Amino acid sequence: MFKIQTLNNISRIGLERLPAGQYNVASDQTDPDALLVRSADLHKIEIPASVRAIGRAGAGTNNIPVAEMSKRGVPVFNAPGANANAVKELVLAGMLLSSRNIPDALAFVSTLPEHADAHHAMEAEKKRFVGSELSGKTLGVVGLGAIGVRVANAARALGMRVFGFDPHMTVDGAWQLSADVVKAGSLNELYAASDFISFHVPLNDATRGVFKAESLQVARRGVVLLNFARDGIIDAGALKAGLDDGTIGRYVTDFPSKEQAVHPRVIGLPHLGASTAEAEENCAVMVVDQLRDFLENGNVLNS
Ligand code: MLT
Repeated sequence: MFKIQTLNNISRIGLERLPAGQYNVASDQTDPDALLVRSADLHKIEIPASVRAIGRAGAGTNNIPVAEMSKRGVPVFNAPGANANAVKELVLAGMLLSSRNIPDALAFVSTLPEHADAHHAMEAEKKRFVGSELSGKTLGVVGLGAIGVRVANAARALGMRVFGFDPHMTVDGAWQLSADVVKAGSLNELYAASDFISFHVPLNDATRGVFKAESLQVARRGVVLLNFARDGIIDAGALKAGLDDGTIGRYVTDFPSKEQAVHPRVIGLPHLGASTAEAEENCAVMVVDQLRDFLENGNVLNS
């Protein structure tokens, strides 16, 4: 019997793939063979010596001490691509929220007094929320993995010009990317060309602060930055300076700090990129299947 400890809620559809006669799945195991997590920060807990594998029902593995686990010979399985469609859809929403001033318009409507002339007040005030269209604007996509490729292709379908940058693009990604996406030769070329810039890279030493003070010098004034990747991808100091002086017109983020959450140029969401029933299911299924294959057959795929 394999003992699996779940440290977060894992989609039932995924857990049902662990046969009851063979697997004991609980949140309070002693001596588990494997851990199954979503956002639990494993840097902050002692991982039992019994653990032989870790499954992360999501793409990012920055909440897991991967290097330390590698030294212990413990594979970490994740689910790259399983939530890519969910993130792509929220990025599109983020661009629309920003370009059509939707948060400000919603706030206005919610404060309308209850009287017969509400309609008149809305018609009178709506000019404050005049937006602009995405069609014809330029989107820069930093990182052309499973999510970035989808975002780039979807933006093309909306009539946007798209620049992409990724020095480590996979052959699969290259096949899937629309031929109309322009490959930027450098980040600065992408930054200089873009009205919107969306980041789709994991957080690591190479990507931390990939948008920084110097990037502000080349970016278009009023650029909209979208961060559905990780906090830290955009240098905090550069971000604050750009937001305060308007170089950055809007920052749409899944990781707002307290200060950013109340900034008039910030649209902050509580890490909702992958929060759809479908994505949670896809991630759980992908990671559970890998865990089983490892525990039962010793196979290590995608760790
Ligand atoms: C991911 O890394 O898969 C997404 O950010 C969602 C999550 O952390 O669960």
